[in-house]
Amino acid sequence: MMTAELFDADAGVQALVPGALLLRGFALAHEDVVVAALSLVVADAPLRHMTTPGGFRMSVAMTNCGVLGWVSDTSGYRYDSRDPDSGQPWPAMPAAFTELATSAAARAGFDGFVPDACLVNRYDPGARLTLHQDRNERDFDAPIVSLSLGLPALFLFGGTRRAERPLRLPLRHGDVVVWGGPARLRYHGVAAVRAGHHPRIGAHRINLTFRKAG
Ligand code: SIN
Ligand code: FE2
Repeated sequence: MMTAELFDADAGVQALVPGALLLRGFALAHEDVVVAALSLVVADAPLRHMTTPGGFRMSVAMTNCGVLGWVSDTSGYRYDSRDPDSGQPWPAMPAAFTELATSAAARAGFDGFVPDACLVNRYDPGARLTLHQDRNERDFDAPIVSLSLGLPALFLFGGTRRAERPLRLPLRHGDVVVWGGPARLRYHGVAAVRAGHHPRIGAHRINLTFRKAG
């Protein structure tokens, strides 16, 4: 059973389950540098719809920055040091991204987190991500740090078995979710994003997922 939600009165910190926290508005103070760095990343490595191992086009458009990038094609899911579209290394992880991810992880109790991979997900209206575990990383010692920008979305945060009914968490621009330790392999996903307009990001939701993959 999911535990009751616990609120940290002054900090906008919501404990979800052991090892998982929602940091409301954590990135708002750094939004300008983060958005500026993101535009450079997507200019260098454009967002694209990858293909699932089963041959379907993903509704979420993706790209990466950092030493390793998550890729999917008909041969499977994996991390690769190169962008398969350009054959070039992924853009470097912007310092603003590393700082944000490291400080969010520390706030959630995971000190010393240094991501080597950042997956950028763009959800246009109707795009969704089915429940899955993040398990392509070399080990599961480091947490996952996930930043939401733009349109709101319902984040589904489940258990360690797919059948467990997920929490439904509305995530907004600037929110960060961190899960690690006992929560590291929990299933999660995103319900179909509803059409709208965000003053800063426009007509979509962007998610940055920071991981230690290698
Ligand atoms: C992911 O699981 O890779 C993305 C989660 C999200 O978009 O919030
Ligand atoms: Fe994920």
